[in-house]
Amino acid sequence: MSFLTIEDLKIHYQLKNSVFKAVDGVDLTIKEGQIIGIVGESGCGKSTLVKGIMQVMARNGFIAAGDIKYNGESMIKMSESKRRAILWKDIAMIPQASMDSLNPVYRVVDAFIEVMTLKGGKSKKEAIVRAGELFELVGIDKKRLRDYPHQFSGGMKQRVAIALALCLDPKIIIADEPVTALDVIVQHQVLTMLNNLRSQFNLTVILITHDISVVAQTCDELAVMYAGKIVEKGNIRDILKSPRHPYSMGLSNAFPDLLKNDKLISINGSVPNLALEQKGCRFVSRCPFSVDICHTHEPELTEYEEGRYAACHRVHDYNELQELAKGVSVWDKVTS
Ligand SMILES: Nc1ncnc2c1ncn2[C@@H]1O[C@H](COP(=O)(O)OP(=O)(O)O)[C@@H](O)[C@H]1O
Ligand SMILES: [Mg+2]
Repeated sequence: MSFLTIEDLKIHYQLKNSVFKAVDGVDLTIKEGQIIGIVGESGCGKSTLVKGIMQVMARNGFIAAGDIKYNGESMIKMSESKRRAILWKDIAMIPQASMDSLNPVYRVVDAFIEVMTLKGGKSKKEAIVRAGELFELVGIDKKRLRDYPHQFSGGMKQRVAIALALCLDPKIIIADEPVTALDVIVQHQVLTMLNNLRSQFNLTVILITHDISVVAQTCDELAVMYAGKIVEKGNIRDILKSPRHPYSMGLSNAFPDLLKNDKLISINGSVPNLALEQKGCRFVSRCPFSVDICHTHEPELTEYEEGRYAACHRVHDYNELQELAKGVSVWDKVTS
């Protein structure tokens, strides 16, 4: 059953004289028990999207259109009290850079006590016992509950952040760049742990990352986000094997497979300014394969094969484009 659906969601930021359209029409269906990756370079709107789901946007951010449904019910239209009962209890988030957001002057256990007493209705004693269990679950000795954040390594702090998100037994965990600041070995350990927790508790995980190799080892489904929109989505193995959007092809090049001795090729240019009106495809200024229509008409995200979506006018030329995308010179031609 699909139990979290995002429908044509738009999240904008009010600037002094304009509106910045950070998320500009996202459709996503998240099924129970799956790990879905959302990948895209920095500034594409990934954090804004998940903050929108959690309703913790910056003060100048607002949901301009669309809906977020949990078990078929609109989380935007439901009462505040009902929404509060769902957020953090059923849907928990590990915010970006959360491992550095633990208060340095409090012992780690205090954060657990706070969440479980204030939001989970537990007594302090019960909260400490549960915190110990959660520590063991993420592979940290419960004796360390009374340590301060600075006494933990980066990988351990990230485990603590995951344990904290598990405090209220959520059904969905949204992890925003959970392994970005970690070295590759520790990244692998944390991702493996998330995967184990997923199977153990039938958790659903939304994993946000700018690094396509992180989703490759963890996720079932993948959504590629570019400039506030999903440009490709589907089964992860299908997308990695045969990306259909030139941006996905470029992202795969930027994280090469070392075993295959692939070349590292970067995508020139940058994400367009989303405070300005967008005309045509948002990727057009960086795309080596653009044709006339790409400059004038925005491609729709369409299901061109069962379960596979892409927003590209040239989606049917993928065989040819994938071959071309492997060459450095083709990307060098674009210098915006
Ligand atoms: N409070 C804000 N006001 C204006 N612009 C913002 C605000 N927060 C984020 N942005 C802009 O929105 C875009 C998307 O940001 P973000 O959602 O953090 O992207 P990502 O997580 O993919 O890096 C960026 O260009 C960022 O500068
Ligand atoms: Mg982010």
